[in-house]
Amino acid sequence: MQKQAVSYKSLGLCNSRELFKKAVSGGYAVPAYNFNNLEQLQAIIMACAETKSPVILQVSKGARSYANETLLRYLAQGAVAFAEELGSPVPIVLHLDHGDSFELCKDCIESGFSSVMIDGSHLPYDENVALTKKVVEYAHQFDVTVEGELGVLAGIEDEVSHASHTYTQPEEVEDFVAKTGVDSLAISIGTSHGAFKFKPGEDPKIRLDILAEIEKRIPGFPIVLHGASSVPQELVKVINEHGGKLKDAIGIGEDQLRLAAKSAVCKINIDSDGRLAMTAAVRKVLDEKPEEFDPRKYLGPARDSLKQLYMHKIKNVLGSDGKA
Ligand code: G3H
Ligand code: 13P
Ligand code: ZN
Repeated sequence: MQKQAVSYKSLGLCNSRELFKKAVSGGYAVPAYNFNNLEQLQAIIMACAETKSPVILQVSKGARSYANETLLRYLAQGAVAFAEELGSPVPIVLHLDHGDSFELCKDCIESGFSSVMIDGSHLPYDENVALTKKVVEYAHQFDVTVEGELGVLAGIEDEVSHASHTYTQPEEVEDFVAKTGVDSLAISIGTSHGAFKFKPGEDPKIRLDILAEIEKRIPGFPIVLHGASSVPQELVKVINEHGGKLKDAIGIGEDQLRLAAKSAVCKINIDSDGRLAMTAAVRKVLDEKPEEFDPRKYLGPARDSLKQLYMHKIKNVLGSDGKA
C-alpha cells in the first residue's frame, strides 16, 4: 500500500527552532527523552505536563522499527492530545535520533517527524558536510529542523562501539555550521552512550573547556549533548539486589550537566537512565511478587518511576520547568 506523506504540523507537533532559541537565551536545556513504547511515552508526557516543560520525543532507528512507524505517528499525535487533556499543552517535537542515511531522514519527515538528526560523525569531514547539507536542504523545504554531529562519542551506538572519544575540534564548528546550514550541533566532549561511561577510579568529568571554546566560535548556536545519562546508583543497586548484573555502571554527574545546560547546550539526550528506572521497577515487582503476571502490575510502577526520574531531570538538571 502506498503511504500518504503526513506533515508534523497536522499532528500538532512543532520543530525545535523556537524551543532552542529560548533555551539558549534562558540558560536551560530541553529534555530529549527516548521512547519505544506506550508506558515510556505516557511517563514523558505526564512529567512534562506536570512541570510545564517543552519536550523532544526522541526515536532511534531501532525504536522506529520496534514501535512501528505508522503507529508512532499516531502515538505522537496522541501525545499532543494527552498533554492538552492534562491541561498543559506543552510544545512537543518528534525527533529522529542518530539518523544514519538521507533516505531514513526523508522517510521520517514524510511520516510526521518535526526534527531529524543526521549523524555523519563517523564519516570523513567532507562526507559528513555533504550528507548533512543534503538532509538540511530537503528538511528545510518542510520546515523540519536538523541536528548534525561533529566528533565521535565513546561507547555503544546502534551496535557500533568506539573505545575512545574523538573530541569535537572547535576549529571545525564554524565551517561545519556555515557549510551545512544545520539548526543544531551535537558535540563530543566526554559524554558517551550507555550505562558504562567511565571505569572505576576514572575521573567522571566532561570537557567543559572544549564546550566553552566551541561557544566562543559559534556564539548562541544551539549545542546538543548526547550520552548524558547519570546512571543513578540507587537504581543500579535495586537492579542488582533483584537479580540484575550491572557491574561498574557509571554515568555523568548531574552537577556537570547542570553547568552545561546553563550554557549554549539546549538539548540533553537521556535514554539509559530511563532504561535503568524501568528495569529496576520491573525487577523489584517480579522478584517480590512472583505470583504477579498482569503486565500493568509491573509496567505501571515502571511508568511511575520513569515519570519521577524525568521530573527530577527537568527541575534539577535541565532547568526546563515552567518554560513551556
Ligand atoms: O543513542 C542511542 C539511543 O540511546 C538509542 O538507542 O538505538 O538502542 O534505540 P537504541
Ligand atoms: P544515554 O545512553 O547516556 O542515555 O544517551 C542517550 C543518547 O544520547 C540518545 O541519543
Ligand atoms: Zn545519542
